[in-house]
Amino acid sequence: MLVINYVAFLMVSVAALLVLVIWILAKVLVMISKKVLEASKSSGKALMIGWIVLGTMFSKGVSAQAPITDTASAVKNVNEYGGLSYNTYWTLFSVLMLELLVIILLVLFIRNLWKTLYPSTIVIKEGKATGESWFLATWHKLDKQFFTKATPIEKEADILLDHDYDGIKELDNALPPWWKFGFYITIGVACIYLLKYEVWETGPNPTQEYVAEMNTAKADVEAYVASLKNNVDEKSVNMSDAAGIAAGQVSFSKTCVACHGTKGEGGVGPNLTDDYWIHGGAIADLFKTVKYGYPDKGMQSWQTTYSPIQIQELVSYIKTLKGTNPPNAKAPQGDLYKEVLTVDSSASKISPKDSVSVK
Ligand code: HEC
Repeated sequence: MLVINYVAFLMVSVAALLVLVIWILAKVLVMISKKVLEASKSSGKALMIGWIVLGTMFSKGVSAQAPITDTASAVKNVNEYGGLSYNTYWTLFSVLMLELLVIILLVLFIRNLWKTLYPSTIVIKEGKATGESWFLATWHKLDKQFFTKATPIEKEADILLDHDYDGIKELDNALPPWWKFGFYITIGVACIYLLKYEVWETGPNPTQEYVAEMNTAKADVEAYVASLKNNVDEKSVNMSDAAGIAAGQVSFSKTCVACHGTKGEGGVGPNLTDDYWIHGGAIADLFKTVKYGYPDKGMQSWQTTYSPIQIQELVSYIKTLKGTNPPNAKAPQGDLYKEVLTVDSSASKISPKDSVSVK
């Protein structure tokens, strides 16, 4: 399936266009070079030949580079940099930059050659008079016209207005260059930002960031709630739900049946189905017994084998065994325990509460 990537399409077209420009410039350069060669025959300017050789070599070397853009256009569809992979994007980008550089160099070559051919046609620039290079002169001119109109500190005396308020004078100067350039940099950054976040959409926008943050927060809350749920102890233990009781039964038949019987009827350990308990019959008592055990009496501690929530499931299961009257039940041991039923008025729910031992 052919998917057109617009960024790639744009970059490759610009690259192709620049190649065309380079080609035309190279032609012009060659043409001018020939003229210069003819002229140098008469005037003997052998130095120019070096320039020409260099210039033509350069333009050829660069035309040979052009096919890179075509191979690079075999776009991988990784969604970075406007659907382009990191490598593809920067390859295209550097090809474009290289082409621009070559164009600038070609223009400079052509200009130089042109100057030797027709010295009178080049207008002497402002900067030339002061001995500045062409580049610096242009830069200063641009700087003065568009960027920083500020008068340098040394010349500030000239623009000091004669307004004088108790010794405070008014200086009619533009903003200082460092300040203005700082401002221009922010404009540049804004452009990059706009392209990255709004045009190519390679970074998360505020909405996406918000959603992502909310998701992590939600995951944190869930993890916290889960940890709370797993944090039961003898004070907070409660009956598990049906699934929990079923899980408790599984653990029971794996670990406890050897001593308490397959139905909890008892064996080495006491009967867990009757109303008599050695260590108390409330769910909190059972939890304590299973968690810490009574090792000197033959019942070990299970807290290294089972998590708190699993112990809750185990004791919840044991709670459901009450009154099941399995066959071969072991004789009661311990004290009679009666469940205290309390009516929770708020939830109108009947729940077993603390143990009451009746002797
Ligand atoms: C090696 C045998 C053995 C195993 C295995 C065993 N128990 Fe016990 N269990 C006992 C003995 C013995 C007692 C009685 C301790 C006493 O007399 O204080 C007991 C007591 C108990 C009691 C308290 C009974 C009461 O009357 O207060 C509970 C509850 C209990 N066990 C649950 C379990 C659970 C749940 C498991 C499985 C995770 C388990 N036991 C595994 C031997 C065992």
